[in-house]
Amino acid sequence: MKTENFVFDGVAGRDGWIDLTVGIRHDMVHYPGDPGVELKQTKHLDRGDPATVSHLSLGVHTGTHVDAPVHFIGGAPGVDQFSIDALIGPATVIEILDKEVCTAQDLAAYDIHAGQRLLLRTNNSNRCWNVDTFVEDYAHLDTSAARMLAERKVQMVGIDYLSIGRGDEGLEVHRILLRAGVVIVEGLDLSRVRAGFYDIICLPLKILGGDGAPARVAVRHRGAQAARPQASHAPTGTMRAVVVIPQEKSVRLVERSVPDRPRGSDVLLRTVEVGICGTDREISSFEYGTPPPGATELVLGHEALAEVIEAGPDVHWARPGDLVVPTVRRPCKIPRCTPCRQGRQDFCITGEFSERGIVRADGFLCEYSIEDEYFLVPVPRVLEGVAVLVEPLSIAAKAADVFKTIHSRFGFDMPRLRGLVLGAGPVGLLGAMVFQAQGIETHVFSREAEDGDRAKLVRSFGANYVSVGRTPLDRLSERVGTIDVIFEAEGVPEVAFGGLDPLSANGVLILTGVPAKRGAISTDLSRWMRDIVLKNQVIFGTVNAGRSDYEDAVRRLEQFMVLFPEAVLSLLNRVAIDQAPDVLARGRGIKDVVTFAA
Ligand code: BGC
Ligand code: ZN
Repeated sequence: MKTENFVFDGVAGRDGWIDLTVGIRHDMVHYPGDPGVELKQTKHLDRGDPATVSHLSLGVHTGTHVDAPVHFIGGAPGVDQFSIDALIGPATVIEILDKEVCTAQDLAAYDIHAGQRLLLRTNNSNRCWNVDTFVEDYAHLDTSAARMLAERKVQMVGIDYLSIGRGDEGLEVHRILLRAGVVIVEGLDLSRVRAGFYDIICLPLKILGGDGAPARVAVRHRGAQAARPQASHAPTGTMRAVVVIPQEKSVRLVERSVPDRPRGSDVLLRTVEVGICGTDREISSFEYGTPPPGATELVLGHEALAEVIEAGPDVHWARPGDLVVPTVRRPCKIPRCTPCRQGRQDFCITGEFSERGIVRADGFLCEYSIEDEYFLVPVPRVLEGVAVLVEPLSIAAKAADVFKTIHSRFGFDMPRLRGLVLGAGPVGLLGAMVFQAQGIETHVFSREAEDGDRAKLVRSFGANYVSVGRTPLDRLSERVGTIDVIFEAEGVPEVAFGGLDPLSANGVLILTGVPAKRGAISTDLSRWMRDIVLKNQVIFGTVNAGRSDYEDAVRRLEQFMVLFPEAVLSLLNRVAIDQAPDVLARGRGIKDVVTFAA
């Protein structure tokens, strides 16, 4: 008999997988009040039976197990309804040792973000699993921690004992998490893992409608793969780059030397594609943009998709072959800038940040570049053909996140919202897709004719198109009714503020376009101010995006590719790098993309 498949001591196996599952045995420890475990052999080889056959009776919350929403919420989904995708993928282990109650404050030090699978290692792992009786004073989350994880939209949270909460408060801890759709994994044995980045597999039994189910759970350290492929083709020599030279007022395709091998937590990237936007065109017409300190040239390109070629020695998760989208903004160095210190440089208060390809830092419109893994966002391979849209989509994702926060002030849900997008450029169209995919009744208002290509594209993903030629903005509500939320993506102040006319009570106007500098515009400000106050309206501006917005954009893009893939694909117009200077001067498609594919 071949025994290799059965040699398992719970420690990392041949491929680095570490089992986090507690063994199931007769009479094992269980949550007080839950059914106990009965495991007996009804037939046995030793007794002359032709086979050994066991009978197992246990509560579904036995040992290592998953809780389903229906555990605490009547009519909610059961454990069989979890998508396999939620249960397999990257996971982060954090350690909060020496705390019996883990609060939001304890979690505040960690980068907890949307979509994350988080495993919380406490003292439980070392003290609870080696005793036969139920440990009453186990470490657990309080409601503040649960609320934080729910608000940050983590995908999964795991803990190393039989309940994520304790006592009466524990009921509410469960409800908060389950209501937010967080997968709760309880009863993990985390004694063999340390804080870090892993891949997780968590497969609960498919108990139809089950309020819980025992699961086999294993993780593998992301940095610990046996053979980490080294760059097979570490680039040397020179590469092509597109640069702007403001002093000379020129945009050129130049040769630059390829970057050195990555150090520390840096990663060497091979650029796959770079999108071109209005900002790039402004930089190429010398109205915006600043080269890095001491340089006369700025390498363009901030909407990048890249492949990891080589990871520096201290890199946690990025592996050669991974597809990534770099974020654009880098924090300022001024200690008092709290947003930058907290990783939210998109909210920088000093203005001393840099932005790759825009201000004080070179961009990605070149074949290779170096970036710290901290500023990279992983992208699944299936999105390779469209992931160049992640950066522009992150703008709309951030707006949606802020909008959600503003709406939460009601404390109740509104019936189907009506949304208006001003402008049918790439950001406007992506914003319209965000609205549409979120179930908002979407209207796009722009210059192009109602029988034109943009109008057709808008209708192809289910939104309505209104041309300014047929219906001016101040007559829009006659045609489509009042609007609850406006996403402005054109940068024309008359149009942006003209949107206040159709805006309903409690409406929100989101500004994302940056207008060109020009003279004063006269208008009836007192009418606007009266309206804004008397209708509880909110106007906010938003620029750039945080890491969580990029991650959100990746998920939204996946959703778009299920809902309306053709519409997404039709945004893209690809050109080769030698065409870049020309495309910067004159746009061709909706979203021009410089591709480096051979
Ligand atoms: C980019 C943002 C950037 C902004 C201002 C936009 O085109 O998408 O990331 O913050 O320009 O520089
Ligand atoms: Zn700052």
